[in-house]
Amino acid sequence: MNYKLINMKVFGDERGRLISLEGGRNCPFEIKRVYWIFDTVPNMDRGMHAHKNMEQIIVAMDGACQFILDDGKKRESLWLNRPDIGLYIGKNMWREMKNFSYGCKLMVLASDYYDEREYIRDYNRFLKEVNND
Ligand code: TYD
Repeated sequence: MNYKLINMKVFGDERGRLISLEGGRNCPFEIKRVYWIFDTVPNMDRGMHAHKNMEQIIVAMDGACQFILDDGKKRESLWLNRPDIGLYIGKNMWREMKNFSYGCKLMVLASDYYDEREYIRDYNRFLKEVNND
């Protein structure tokens, strides 16, 4: 499975806490794009796609949501609910985001610019591509 949870270094003191990610250093790719998801509602799923080449790190800055991750052979599930844990997702991983808390805020760091041609949004096509059918 081409994903991992990253425990990020926290700089904390009596004023609060701070985390820094630097492309190519403690973030495994150069960051070309940042986007965020907010105003989420339960029972409205997102994702349902894979990327041919994109790598991402996703952080739940506030609230929680469930990720289903699928490499075409196995399906695993995890919850993101902490601002100090990043979910790294590599290439060719199908992802579904479910069970958002109200107003969950996800920040996403991406290795490349947005390009719809780079998405695989059809699960059967994804299975064909990763299994080389
Ligand atoms: P979508 O891929 O449906 O979001 P999610 O992966 O959370 O389900 O994206 C929603 C819309 O936003 C869609 O019209 C594409 C657009 N979009 C951009 O224009 N740029 C971006 O960087 C992203 C991630 C999406």
